[in-house]
Amino acid sequence: MLMIVLMFSPRRVSWLPISFARRFGAQGCWVAGFSLAALVLAGCVEAREFAEPPAVFADVAPILDESCVECHSGPMAEADYRLEDYFQTVRCIPDPEGQPATLPSDPTAPILAVLGRPDHADLLDEEQTRGLTTWVTDGAVPASRSTHPGKWTDPRASEWHGIYLRETDWQPIVDPTREDACGLCHDGSPAPVEGVINFPPDATPCTDCHSLPGGVMSCGTCHGDGARAYPPRDQCYFRGPPEGYAHGPHVEHSANNPSGLDCESCHFGEDFTMLAGTHGNGEVDVVFDPIWDPADYDFESGDCASSCHIRGGTNPEVAWEEEGLNLSCNACHLNPPLFHSTGPCNGCHIGINPEGTQLTPEAPHIDGKVDVN
Ligand code: HEC
Ligand code: HEC
Ligand code: HEC
Ligand code: HEC
Ligand code: HEC
Ligand code: HEC
Ligand code: HEC
Repeated sequence: MLMIVLMFSPRRVSWLPISFARRFGAQGCWVAGFSLAALVLAGCVEAREFAEPPAVFADVAPILDESCVECHSGPMAEADYRLEDYFQTVRCIPDPEGQPATLPSDPTAPILAVLGRPDHADLLDEEQTRGLTTWVTDGAVPASRSTHPGKWTDPRASEWHGIYLRETDWQPIVDPTREDACGLCHDGSPAPVEGVINFPPDATPCTDCHSLPGGVMSCGTCHGDGARAYPPRDQCYFRGPPEGYAHGPHVEHSANNPSGLDCESCHFGEDFTMLAGTHGNGEVDVVFDPIWDPADYDFESGDCASSCHIRGGTNPEVAWEEEGLNLSCNACHLNPPLFHSTGPCNGCHIGINPEGTQLTPEAPHIDGKVDVN
């Protein structure tokens, strides 16, 4: 049995506008000297560059409720843009690959630019317009906070809790003995802190936002878009070169792959429900399930040299990020293979129509063995 283990540095998405990072980069004292006493570390607020604290979402929510939500809410929202809460308000138009509604932090941001259009021009009075403009130009800060930095819930900010957790190698959600263990103050952290029953009243349980089964440790939290469990990341929050787009066609069921492949087919031999072993160590491990032996993946070229593809067909060389790859039944193997029986295909094979042009949803196709009755 041959298993090939490839370990490379991951390509980090780096898309935050630099000015953003500078302006809000001051992580504050929360990160530097963390302890329960941090709750009373009022000094954090003073470290800001603003004369006044920036406007926060709660300042503009009443304006949006009064003048916008009527048309921009629910599944039928105009322009598919909802203004019901902070996360929806900062999303992209069109979602998820268009421009973020609140960026850049100036009057060209779509949420402000639209107010110059005739159909939106009279919706807000001068004061409301000034209020919304201030919030956007201040950086669309989600909330004013005492314990964490203001942009702690903004996935595009350098202060985001996700970046903090990546930079601390996830230890605050793995190790309950740390001073910054999230479980000290939040219900629903993956590693609860023993003995803590009462949480600060404002400390939202992690599972209020991470509400899928599995909570924070559900796969979509760190990989897909919250709900979808596989790469690429949510393209509205995480811009960058498209990566991992070949996951969809492999993981989802398709004409060639009626049942879809699980993560273990190509990332074999780990328990992904925990951040342990090589999972979450910041490196990408591609290890094929031994049933695909011999199989190989070249990180440099992105080529898959696996027995799934190389079977005498017309398109044996495929690269992981190849766009619009549409593999026909003749791509991997010839269909039928040369000098093959010409009888009705379903006489010998399961899960295929008699002509051999279509697989059925139950087909045991691409499971590493040739299935014949
Ligand atoms: C009477 C219904 C209505 C109200 C009220 C309304 N909108 Fe709209 N909005 C629309 C429609 C319709 C579109 C889509 C227009 C189009 O297709 O170009 C739109 C589009 C948008 C867009 C997308 C513009 C783009 O760049 O494509 C934004 C942003 C927006 N609205 C923000 C707001 C804000 C902020 C408010 C409150 C101040 C608001 N809307 C109130 C109907 C409304
Ligand atoms: C010392 C107690 C304490 C610890 C430890 C702590 N938090 Fe918090 N957290 C709070 C409090 C209090 C709030 C509400 C006030 C604020 O936002 O500053 C809060 C708010 C939040 C929010 C925003 C919730 C919302 O509804 O907007 C998130 C997200 C969050 N914390 C994540 C974390 C993560 C992740 C960790 C671990 C790295 C962590 N917290 C550690 C006390 C704590
Ligand atoms: C107010 C809502 C909110 C709360 C409360 C919250 N989170 Fe998050 N968290 C988010 C959002 C939004 C994302 C981005 C998910 C996505 O779409 O990819 C995120 C992402 C994450 C990620 C992924 C980070 C990454 O780099 O990919 C982790 C880990 C995480 N949260 C941990 C926690 C923990 C632990 C708590 C509780 C202590 C918590 N969160 C509470 C909103 C929240
Ligand atoms: C708290 C964050 C987090 C959660 C939740 C998470 N992962 Fe991961 N995972 C990572 C990180 C970090 C990597 C390393 C690659 C990267 O940085 O994108 C990774 C890598 C992977 C890989 C690539 C192989 C490897 O080990 O490098 C697979 C497959 C994977 N995760 C599956 C899962 C599955 C399945 C789940 C849900 C059961 C899950 N992950 C939940 C953080 C997470
Ligand atoms: C058909 C094989 C295959 C399957 C199935 C598969 N992956 Fe991957 N995955 C790969 C390859 C190949 C890469 C490396 C891409 C590269 O060169 O960076 C990768 C990379 C990743 C990465 C690193 C980020 C990225 O996009 O490069 C994560 C995280 C990941 N996979 C998670 C998952 C999860 C979660 C599942 C299951 C839902 C899964 N993978 C299923 C082949 C697969
Ligand atoms: C008389 C029984 C029989 C019939 C009829 C038959 N096959 Fe097969 N097929 C086999 C056997 C046995 C194997 C495995 C041995 C081999 O590869 O030749 C196989 C293997 C295959 C493979 C796998 C090739 C590979 O790369 O491993 C394909 C594809 C295939 N058959 C397609 C077809 C199609 C399409 C038809 C209908 C035109 C068909 N077969 C009809 C018996 C049959
Ligand atoms: C991505 C490469 C690939 C594509 C595309 C592909 N196959 Fe296959 N096929 C395989 C592999 C690999 C096998 C070997 C058996 C296995 O792993 O299930 C196989 C085996 C077969 C078999 C033998 C029975 C079995 O399931 O083992 C039939 C029949 C078959 N394929 C029909 C088709 C048809 C019809 C299509 C188009 C809808 C198709 N194949 C497209 C890779 C492919």
